[in-house]
Amino acid sequence: MRGYPGWFYPALLLTVFGLVLTGGLLTPTLLDLRLEWDMPWRLEGNGQIAVAALHAAVSFWMLTMLGSLWNIHMRAGWRHRKHWRSGIAMALLMLFLLVTAIGIYYLADEQLAMVSAVSHLVAGTLVFALFVYHAIIGYRRAVQHKSHLHY
Ligand code: HEM
Ligand code: HEM
Repeated sequence: MRGYPGWFYPALLLTVFGLVLTGGLLTPTLLDLRLEWDMPWRLEGNGQIAVAALHAAVSFWMLTMLGSLWNIHMRAGWRHRKHWRSGIAMALLMLFLLVTAIGIYYLADEQLAMVSAVSHLVAGTLVFALFVYHAIIGYRRAVQHKSHLHY
């Protein structure tokens, strides 16, 4: 990632994987409590609260990284019109995740809160798939670019 300190890329990977891991751990609870599916296992009590708090904390950190990506990474990509479709889709989905997370917290109507939670889960899964795709094509391009410089 050009323009960023060396720690930024590993920190970004860790943050995205942390979000997916904690989000994944919260999924059986969502399916059980909100959709009333009979799950063989789900987090309960203090464990659930701890993981939800961790997920929220990691997500706040993700949003600060998004601000930083916006300034350098996205503007550079946009200028060169490269990887912009998956990039913009990811950025917009993250804003959608933020809105649906607010819905999870504050919607009093249970039906609406359920729709918000399920949309959050679907968007989270999509963001992860896009991230893997975007990072792999980004990495390939960086490697190709380097080999062109050598030959
Ligand atoms: C920028 C990205 C994200 C933000 C801002 C965000 C934020 C939040 C917040 C604030 C909550 C409420 C925690 C609580 O229950 O107290 C939540 C719940 C949840 N998130 Fe995320 N999240 C993000 C990404 C993801 C991803 C990538 C996944 C999944 C793979 C995911 C899956 C979930 C699930 C399953 C819940 C539980 C919903 C429920 O309690 O019904 N989130 N998220
Ligand atoms: C949530 C938003 C985004 C995230 C998390 C993200 C993340 C990443 C990651 C992890 C890589 C691989 C870097 C490497 O292997 O060195 C990458 C590459 C790339 N991304 Fe993004 N990206 C985002 C948004 C965007 C947007 C909006 C654009 C374009 C408008 C874009 C354009 C590029 C380009 C051109 C590359 C390859 C060259 C480079 O590493 O700078 N990205 N991105």
